[in-house]
Amino acid sequence: MNNQEILNTIHSLLPSRLESAEFLTAVVKLLHRERPHYTWVGVYLLVGEELVLGPFVGKPTPHTRIPLNQGICGAAASSGQTLIVDDVNADPRYLACSLETRSEIVVPIKYQGRILGEIDIDSDQPAAFTPDDREVLEGVAGLLADSLIIDTTISFPWHG
Ligand code: SME
Repeated sequence: MNNQEILNTIHSLLPSRLESAEFLTAVVKLLHRERPHYTWVGVYLLVGEELVLGPFVGKPTPHTRIPLNQGICGAAASSGQTLIVDDVNADPRYLACSLETRSEIVVPIKYQGRILGEIDIDSDQPAAFTPDDREVLEGVAGLLADSLIIDTTISFPWHG
């Protein structure tokens, strides 16, 4: 699928009134399936001052809760800006999940300036993420923000 087809597919899932948890799961699976350089794809949701891991595809990570002042994940959520790290081993903020990971992109999920969470993607390829990835993922983050803001009853079945 091209970027627009990915966005259209995700948009078409929105009115089906999936629970947010199911919707997020469908989105991480779709991104992982459609972009072979996305080795690990997950969504973190902001709960208080912590990012809590929601649905993901890839190896389990020890980082199921990340304080806002830690990691590339914390930096992206704190700044509200997409962060692309071409070489994770050269970034002192990096919290390792898998030894094979070489690069990472983190895209905040925002609604009217408020941070709701983020999309986190790791690649086993160095410098894997291009402006094209940023474009589609910022679009997807906008759709996730819409779904999260609609479903105020979201619960956290993943990590208590
Ligand atoms: N690498 C992230 C932690 C999350 S795991 O990669 C899934 C970070 O530095 O914040």
